[in-house]
Amino acid sequence: MKFQSLTLILVVLFASVATNQAIAPSNSEPVNVNDPHVIEIANFAVTEYNKKTTEAKLKFEKVINGLSSTVNDETNYRLTVAANNGSSSDLIYGAVVLEKPSKNYTLKLFALIHA
Ligand SMILES: *[C@@H]1O[C@H](CO)[C@@H](O)[C@H](O)[C@H]1NC(C)=O
Ligand SMILES: *[C@@H]1O[C@H](CO)[C@@H](O)[C@H](O)[C@H]1NC(C)=O
Repeated sequence: MKFQSLTLILVVLFASVATNQAIAPSNSEPVNVNDPHVIEIANFAVTEYNKKTTEAKLKFEKVINGLSSTVNDETNYRLTVAANNGSSSDLIYGAVVLEKPSKNYTLKLFALIHA
């Protein structure tokens, strides 16, 4: 499945974001993890992943951190999200969501970073 093959790329991406933001666009800004809009996007990512996965369905817990960058009215969110898979809680996932002006979200990446 596509999501799994992208896990390594995502882990590298998030490691970079966590350290020096080398890969992130220069206009990236940290998100407010308590912002209802950010939580909505994280929830969208989990819901969308659940639609596609054959693994256990996830329950969103919280946004741990994230960055957003806006280019030409499109905002890219790179979020680190904690979720529960039914038997374990605090599983850490990386999610990349693109938001367009029509308030339409697209899940670009979703992968387990740390169990
Ligand atoms: C939930 O995640 C844990 C840790 O990765 C794993 O051991 C367990 O099998 C998962 N549970 C389900 C129902 O997939
Ligand atoms: C949202 O995006 C999907 C997939 O890109 C598209 O099929 C759908 O028409 C869009 N919906 C709106 C309201 O723009």
